[in-house]
Amino acid sequence: MSSDTGPSGPSPALSQGAAGFLDQTLRPRAWDEYIGQESIKRNLTILIGAAKEREHPPEHLLFYGPPGLGKTTLAHLIAIELGVSMKATSGPAIEKVGDLAALLTNLSPGDILFIDEIHRLSKAIEEVLYPAMEQGSLDIIIGKGPSARTVQLPLPPFTLIAATTQLANVSAPLRSRFSGGVFHLDFYSDEELSRILSRSASILGIEAKKDAVEEIARRSRATPRTANYLLKRARDVAQLKRAALTLPIVEEALAMLEVDELGLTPADRRILGALIERFGGGPVGVGAIAAALGEEQSAISDVHEPYLLQRGLLERTPRGRTATAAAYEHLGKKPPSTGTLL
Ligand SMILES: Nc1ncnc2c1ncn2[C@@H]1O[C@H](COP(=O)(O)OP(=O)(O)O)[C@@H](O)[C@H]1O
Ligand SMILES: [Mg+2]
Repeated sequence: MSSDTGPSGPSPALSQGAAGFLDQTLRPRAWDEYIGQESIKRNLTILIGAAKEREHPPEHLLFYGPPGLGKTTLAHLIAIELGVSMKATSGPAIEKVGDLAALLTNLSPGDILFIDEIHRLSKAIEEVLYPAMEQGSLDIIIGKGPSARTVQLPLPPFTLIAATTQLANVSAPLRSRFSGGVFHLDFYSDEELSRILSRSASILGIEAKKDAVEEIARRSRATPRTANYLLKRARDVAQLKRAALTLPIVEEALAMLEVDELGLTPADRRILGALIERFGGGPVGVGAIAAALGEEQSAISDVHEPYLLQRGLLERTPRGRTATAAAYEHLGKKPPSTGTLL
């Protein structure tokens, strides 16, 4: 596979931004529709069951992992299971202490507050969140200077559920306050993705052949959101051809999207290409790769890198990223004969 000249930047639909209307309809609404992540589901079942028995909201939860693996969906499922409503916001959306105070004071007892991208919360907001999480109160400072005093405003009992793609950027004091648990979402197996795709196909009224579904699963970067996205694109091709969703149709759709045999997108291949051609295979810092490609560093480290690591195409070393022999092979490049290939 040669390095490509595709559009610059990660395709939004293949990375973070595919949460459109259809994504909503495909979102699981019951636990048995939420495929995989068995250990997380077991833990949550116990946590929720015990909390219900005590008639008290479950303790605060943090989910982390690459985009599209089902973090937001888990939060929704927990709210459904508890029969409470969920207010959703995100780290960058909470700009002022007052924003957070308004959110917290407007919760009904037992509600869930969902904060996406919690690693982007400012330090000042974090400080306000601590007493809210720990003692269920809002500490408000009234006045200035020597006459300033703190007033504690009690809050309705609530559960904070947070999600992040960058656990390393969630401060230790904040992390330690997720007393219900900090859960890592794993990539999905092809078999799990096939099950997710079969359900999605039936919701969308698509008659898809088994081998077609399996091929989409294999090339979905082990990510349910990507799987659903590719299913819809293949459905479009099938529809315009008045054809069933067969393996050749899937292959045609994937070729058009430049998704390769390993499920890599043009943006994934550009990263490996830059690493090999411009940095001699590394080690090089992710910042340098981002600068070379004109990409956001976080897009590379959150969206692309985890899957490249998972496939063994990239290695993370203390001195930076290195391309593996498999990466050279995949791009059809000759690995350096001497050197430090892994
Ligand atoms: N375990 C799962 N089972 C079935 N579908 C899933 C699962 N996880 C994610 N999905 C699908 O992928 C989409 C994206 O998941 P989402 O929860 O928004 O990911 P995240 O919040 O981690 O970025 C969901 O709308 C849903 O259609
Ligand atoms: Mg999400």
